[in-house]
Amino acid sequence: MSTMLITSHPAPVREAIGRHRDALDADPVAYLEENGTRLTEASRAAAASYLGMHPAHVALTDSTTMGVGLIYTGLKVGPGQEVLTTDEDYYVTHESLRHLTDATGATERRISLFDDISEATDGGIVQRIVDAIRPETRLLALTWVHSSTGLKIPVGSIAVALQEINAGRDEQDHVLFGLDAVHGFGVETDSFFDLGVDFLMAGCHKWLFGPRGTGIAAISERGLGAVRPIVPTFDDARVFSRWYAGEDYALSNNGRTLTPGGFKDFEHRWALAEAFALHEEIGRARVAERTHTLAGDLKDALAGIRGVSVVTPRQPGLSAGIVCFDVEGLEPEEVVSRLRSRSVVASVAPYPSAHVRLTPSIRNSEAEIEAAARAVRSII
Ligand SMILES: Cc1ncc(COP(=O)(O)O)c(C=O)c1O
Repeated sequence: MSTMLITSHPAPVREAIGRHRDALDADPVAYLEENGTRLTEASRAAAASYLGMHPAHVALTDSTTMGVGLIYTGLKVGPGQEVLTTDEDYYVTHESLRHLTDATGATERRISLFDDISEATDGGIVQRIVDAIRPETRLLALTWVHSSTGLKIPVGSIAVALQEINAGRDEQDHVLFGLDAVHGFGVETDSFFDLGVDFLMAGCHKWLFGPRGTGIAAISERGLGAVRPIVPTFDDARVFSRWYAGEDYALSNNGRTLTPGGFKDFEHRWALAEAFALHEEIGRARVAERTHTLAGDLKDALAGIRGVSVVTPRQPGLSAGIVCFDVEGLEPEEVVSRLRSRSVVASVAPYPSAHVRLTPSIRNSEAEIEAAARAVRSII
């Protein structure tokens, strides 16, 4: 139950990787030349369709971390402007914002979205953010589902509140909304426009069960104009043809120009379309419902064990697939190691205040949920 870390490839993804790998090994240059653009664009189109947006707004990355790093570090900000994030955000967001502020002279500020997670509410979270926005705030950088506690934040409502704030500002002063979406992506049904963000970064190698080493950054029209590319692209043929011809090859940003270039582990990138197809075939609403049901059942079972306190909220609106809990008198690492010896794969949240995490997905059965809860009971 650690889909939230890294997936094992489901059969259609594994088979597609194998097909592309064999063909590349047989004749790498010809296979790349004859199929590369088509297959890369098929993966981009599948990601765009899944998010309900145009492929020209989707960059392909290797991970959430790469997307967050590229977008935040590339943001066009300067002295006198600030980026706002939270204490609950992950190292990757904090570190990327540090790179940004070091490079640009903009400042970073952090707030907390709640005092006590057991009292967190949608309305309370939105209010804290609205209260914290200042005239100089240019970016709000949040995480959809916190990997520290499993809390899911009300992204759509936050976007609506930002729209109201932005309505009173000139476009160059709009507060842009960036989201580390990795633990909602592949679980929830929201489209890019439902979420209302400017930048959505996610790895595809967790809840989506995509090829390891794949990810996306989806970018709004406004967002495309607000970032500088960091890594040269190989995905927009116009760049090369103009560069060869000695012409000006600076292009306005799009999903291709913001896709970091270099030769890739193509067999993985090209098998991404199969992961989206698998989710569409199963049905996104069914994936969401099943993940929430299994996580809810696990929370209920854990809550019934003496000495266990469940940290993740029970309400589906405030949680997704991550289930965090503490065991009285045991360090999280010790709980994980005892569970591992009983064949239950849990993990410790890599945060200053660490909890134990189990993350059931559609690959788990009810019997496994019960077995995991039994294993927790048995180690206390
Ligand atoms: C919130 C969050 N963002 C990013 C990551 C890293 O994701 P990736 O491996 O796709 O870079 C993790 C954990 O793995 C995470 O919990």
